[in-house]
Amino acid sequence: MMNISKKDKNYQEAIEANIAVHSAMVEKYNFVEPHFRPESVARVEHIIQSIVAQHKVRKVVDLGCGTGFMINILKKYVEEIIGVDITQPMLDKVEKTGTAKISLINEDTGSVQLENNYYDMATAYSFLDHLYDMSPTFLNTYRFLRQGGIFYADLSPNAYFWDQIKQLDSTKTYDPIILREIKAINQKSQEIEQQFGIEKGLFVKAEFQKHIKGGLREEDIKQQLLDVGFQKVDFLYHWYLGQAQLINDNSIDKNQRLEYASIMSDYLIKGLPITRHVFKYVGFIAIK
Ligand SMILES: C[S@@+](CC[C@H](N)C(=O)[O-])C[C@H]1O[C@@H](n2cnc3c(N)ncnc32)[C@H](O)[C@@H]1O
Repeated sequence: MMNISKKDKNYQEAIEANIAVHSAMVEKYNFVEPHFRPESVARVEHIIQSIVAQHKVRKVVDLGCGTGFMINILKKYVEEIIGVDITQPMLDKVEKTGTAKISLINEDTGSVQLENNYYDMATAYSFLDHLYDMSPTFLNTYRFLRQGGIFYADLSPNAYFWDQIKQLDSTKTYDPIILREIKAINQKSQEIEQQFGIEKGLFVKAEFQKHIKGGLREEDIKQQLLDVGFQKVDFLYHWYLGQAQLINDNSIDKNQRLEYASIMSDYLIKGLPITRHVFKYVGFIAIK
């Protein structure tokens, strides 16, 4: 499977686009990406703490590690971390301080060679949508995880959300909460072009699963993971339509709006799968 896919010209083009885009963004990356905000780090740290404690995790591979967003969280809880990324300038920013042993590999996650049946966990944060084809990475991850090992992925665009936004008539008037999302689809690549000088077509190719495939769809991803051998896959839905506006609503006391946002999230999560169209991001926890 891996060789067929890697011969594909589109597979290589997505890799080259990623190297170009992330090399251009690297200096500002940690400052422009919203997932570096403390509340977002706290959410991921909470998930990591719970997986590490429950599954006795010591050795982890972080796929598409970039500048080390996940490594910085993991290193407080585990002993050994391998970060894999195709863009060397991103890897150059990873902080190797702390007690965990951290190694970095500049390779494609679909073909990187790692010891089989060895790692307790693999992580992929804000990453899977950057691949032209996820199956070589899924297969590779399955191979290097030990039996019972965990694959935790998060912050990938949710296809059910983008389906809804794309269906809207952009000439009509909507609440700013919705207009912001319509704008995000139509203008994000233009903004990136202006801010970083990255050509629009290149940016689209670098986020192939988002801009060309329309996001990750629970059923498809679950099937792909089961096909390579994972036993159980649970999906996570995150960041609902309007959450940013509620959190930033200055007319409400800060602690209160955070509490409202969290209560609302809990109720929307209880309403899954009916409510899955309102969440912008998906993730999953798969067990080998
Ligand atoms: C949006 S960044 C996410 C980085 C980091 N995980 C984070 O959360 O900040 C996506 C990263 O995936 C890397 N990448 C894209 N395609 C890759 C591939 N085929 N193999 C390894 N890394 C890849 C890019 O170089 C980039 O650093």
